[in-house]
Amino acid sequence: MHNYTMTGFLLDLLANEAYVSGEDLATKMGMTRSAVWKQVKGLRKLGYKIEAHPSKGYLLVEKPDRIYPWEVMGKLETEFIGRKMEYYDELPSTNQRAKELILTSPPEGTLILAEKQTSGKGRLGRAWFSPAGIGLCFSLILKPQLPPNELPKLTLVAAVALSKAIYQEAHRRPLVKWPNDLYLEGRKVSGILTELSGEMGRLEYLILGVGININQESVDFPEEIREKAGSLRSILGQKKPFSRLDLLGKYLKQLEEEYTNAIRSGFERTLTYCRRHSATLGNRVEVTDGRRVYQGKAIRIEDHGGLVVEDEEGKQAQVISGDVNLIDFPPPEH
Ligand code: BTN
Repeated sequence: MHNYTMTGFLLDLLANEAYVSGEDLATKMGMTRSAVWKQVKGLRKLGYKIEAHPSKGYLLVEKPDRIYPWEVMGKLETEFIGRKMEYYDELPSTNQRAKELILTSPPEGTLILAEKQTSGKGRLGRAWFSPAGIGLCFSLILKPQLPPNELPKLTLVAAVALSKAIYQEAHRRPLVKWPNDLYLEGRKVSGILTELSGEMGRLEYLILGVGININQESVDFPEEIREKAGSLRSILGQKKPFSRLDLLGKYLKQLEEEYTNAIRSGFERTLTYCRRHSATLGNRVEVTDGRRVYQGKAIRIEDHGGLVVEDEEGKQAQVISGDVNLIDFPPPEH
């Protein structure tokens, strides 16, 4: 079992871009010098570049681009979201792992992170493409104390928090495509998959699965989605990769804030943001709601979170959970 706290502590001690002697490290960490050396070798195996000099000690030269739990912990500014986490190099799907974990009654806010998913799930049985190291894919386990009819709005909460976090990190505000995608310059940069577990209308857990395209180049996407998908870096034409860790830290903070606010004070603030920064409202859409497929104009988001679509004859329909595709692609920027 890896000791996250010890690893984080050693990295903190090496964080000042200066040599630290083995003796100093040993004293501060309460271990022998050879135990320190063992820790350093462990870190090197994980991709950290650490120089060892016979008289000067150790120097941390470079960190790997990994979302290791101790690195995530260093960015956490939350009370409960992400305070417990699991980290994997590779998983079939973080949502699937979350479902297994639920059987062990995990605390609210448990985070499951994977560098890569081999069968990431999207909505409606689709796949979510999640290669290693260039995006983020993770799931959060929540236990919202809300009546069942309020639950769909939590997808909006998650999307709004992500739009805000991306704005902080990349200084551009992605639009919310009702109810669970984020779009930037007409391309999908993120998808959210919410799954519920519980019995007889009583919710026990809500799993919030989030996929974000961050540093992909266009060729990194499978051909069939290359036209529609984009990453923050490719869309914004930024040379330097975005820090996945910084974005994750900001997102978890925004999410905790938005979620706590919604549970305490209702969804008004979330809905106002969705309406103001919507990729859907005012646009022509095609709705697939399980029973039928129809087209119309998205005209309103109701207070209960549903989307109202009006067809050419002026007939209105409410969408609560269907799939909504934008017809005039890409949608105009608001
Ligand atoms: C969609 O756009 O259809 C939703 C995509 C959700 C993808 C995320 S990645 C992390 C989590 N684990 C999964 O298997 N899916 C979600």
